[in-house]
Amino acid sequence: MIQKYVYGNPFTTEAVVEEVAVGGGVPAYGSIETEQGFCFTYKMAEDDIVYGLGEANRGLNKRGYCYTSDCTDDPNHTEDKRSLYGAHNFIIVAGKETFGLFFDYPSMITFDVGYTRTDTLRVSCESADLNLFVIDGDSPYDIVKQFRGIIGRSYIPPRYAFGFGQSRWGYKTKDDFRRVVDGHRENDVPLDMVYMDIDYMQSFKDFTLHEKNFPDFPAFVQEMKDRNIRLIPIIDAGVKVEEGYEIYEEGVKNRYFCQREDGSDFVAAVWPGDTHFPDVLNEDARRWFGDQYRILTDQGIEGFWNDMNEPAIFYSQEGMAELKDVLRNFLENENGGGITAGEMANDRKREESDGAAEGQDVTNGADDDKKPAAVVSLWPLMGKIGSLANSKADYRRFYHNTKEGRVRHDKVHNLFGYYMTRAAGEAFERIDPDKRFLMFSRSSYIGMHRYGGIWTGDNKSWWSHILLNLKMLPSLNMCGFLYTGADLGGFGADTTRDLLLRWLALGVFTPLMRDHAAQGTREQECYQFENIEDFRHVIGVRYRLIPYLYSEYMKAALNNDVYFKPLAFVYPEDRMAVQVEDQMMLGNEIMIAPVYTQNAKGRYVYLPEEMKFVKFLPGGRIVEEVLGKGHHYVEIALNEVPLFIRSGKCIPLADTAEYVEALDTEHMTMLGFAGAEYMLYEDDGVSKRYQKPEDYRKLTM
Ligand code: GLC
Repeated sequence: MIQKYVYGNPFTTEAVVEEVAVGGGVPAYGSIETEQGFCFTYKMAEDDIVYGLGEANRGLNKRGYCYTSDCTDDPNHTEDKRSLYGAHNFIIVAGKETFGLFFDYPSMITFDVGYTRTDTLRVSCESADLNLFVIDGDSPYDIVKQFRGIIGRSYIPPRYAFGFGQSRWGYKTKDDFRRVVDGHRENDVPLDMVYMDIDYMQSFKDFTLHEKNFPDFPAFVQEMKDRNIRLIPIIDAGVKVEEGYEIYEEGVKNRYFCQREDGSDFVAAVWPGDTHFPDVLNEDARRWFGDQYRILTDQGIEGFWNDMNEPAIFYSQEGMAELKDVLRNFLENENGGGITAGEMANDRKREESDGAAEGQDVTNGADDDKKPAAVVSLWPLMGKIGSLANSKADYRRFYHNTKEGRVRHDKVHNLFGYYMTRAAGEAFERIDPDKRFLMFSRSSYIGMHRYGGIWTGDNKSWWSHILLNLKMLPSLNMCGFLYTGADLGGFGADTTRDLLLRWLALGVFTPLMRDHAAQGTREQECYQFENIEDFRHVIGVRYRLIPYLYSEYMKAALNNDVYFKPLAFVYPEDRMAVQVEDQMMLGNEIMIAPVYTQNAKGRYVYLPEEMKFVKFLPGGRIVEEVLGKGHHYVEIALNEVPLFIRSGKCIPLADTAEYVEALDTEHMTMLGFAGAEYMLYEDDGVSKRYQKPEDYRKLTM
């Protein structure tokens, strides 16, 4: 049962799409205060587990730390970070009492899950204007399914999107892309997609193509398609400010960009230099921005990734002006100049007629006139430089023209990525209502899961990030994000061969399987390393499993279910299983337990029931062994892919293929327990005609 509680005057996020009864009185759990902002408090029992929060740091059980939903472009996902790119305000308390909570609030909200006081869950935000959904259910799993029922069906990608994709920030020319395809095809490493990062654009302008490098783009798209490769271009949130650039001019003319309080278009510097943000929370602007995707779909493109949509800001004009003040102060002081920081800031405030320079982020005590000038220190300058990007002050400097009136950005900050992706999703419906487009975004809010998947942003080539990737998967699924994956091999920092292989062996199971790396890092395409046959094998196993993975994905999406779940959802009575965070259930048949430690020859696993341990060895050999319930150490070499089949279950296995469409699903073998049956779901993979009777096929061992 779900009940909705309305506080104040909430902004309509459209995260929830089904009618939910408004509860009478107060929620049955915890207590709520609305005197100063909003605060929900609940006293947790010692063994309670808290699930949820989707794309968040740390463990599957969120207890013991503090998380803030505040979509942030931060490429350093260290353990101390409280915010990543998404805002997924759904949690489940499981234990003495079991219930789910969704705080539908589009601005910054903090989840203190036993951080300040070990036994206290405290969810708080600045304004008491939100919808709170309280879900009662038999189990956390049941609560997840109910929640998913009210937020609408998860995005379904085309089937080819289950293939392997290669990406790198730095591919610039047609030949760069051809080399990637050759590197895979010549080495028999399967490949379906090559991603185009910002360099394909002319001067980083959205929906343009680099004039010198991409003449006759449609012919190039076709050349790639003839090799069964789809090119997937990136789209960034900021539209470059440049006279003569049609999208910029149209947006300015029609007032489609986010504006400052005085009505001028807000300027944020991102990759192209100065940009304006399309006001995707405004219906007309959203439609207009979405329609731009057509420029590329008309040239044969069938998928995109949306980036920088927190929205990321490197600096604003106002921030830069403040920096100049601090710099001037620094230089003058160094040269024995007598002006104080406070005097300088005041001078500038007088110059600024629009009053936009709030001076909030000036770390030099800009408002303190009495501060002596004699202190010549680099710190204020460094501090100012450090606080230029993604500054809170900037998010207060621009507005959206929504159905509910003009709203200052910071009040709805967490919706930007969602609505940018919605712009694309709604446009795809207009472009071809029956076709599935590939779409995933960096920033997101619950609701966006209906329009696209997400990738988990700029991770690093660190072993700890394999584990972070793994632990995040079920939490993302709970919040509706099924089509997800991390940058395999790691985005930042230099990868190593073993790290990439181990990470790929996890990526074999994530719906989005993409190797992506940052400019300036070691090249990490499979063919850059010795013994390419190991990579061919690991990625080859992915293709062998696609009939099963796709089938389980579709069942999860079509039934508001999850693809990845914690062991606790399947074995709630097993006290050991409930604590496991480095193994996951995938679909109804298998459990995965990847290796995430350097130089390890294997790992410990816990089996909550008898299972068949399956290892895919290079050369197509498969080793199978039935292991009993309990703890085991299993050996897994660097070039092997392990999985575990649940007792009494089986899965189909195809021969590997160069690309998804070449998979032969008519002649598959079965893996698992004798006498077991599997219901395979397989549709055309491109249209939206789902669940036709012929899409289901019963397979037996
Ligand atoms: C951002 C993205 C990354 C991309 C880069 C350049 O950092 O997260 O994936 O490669 O921008 O576009």
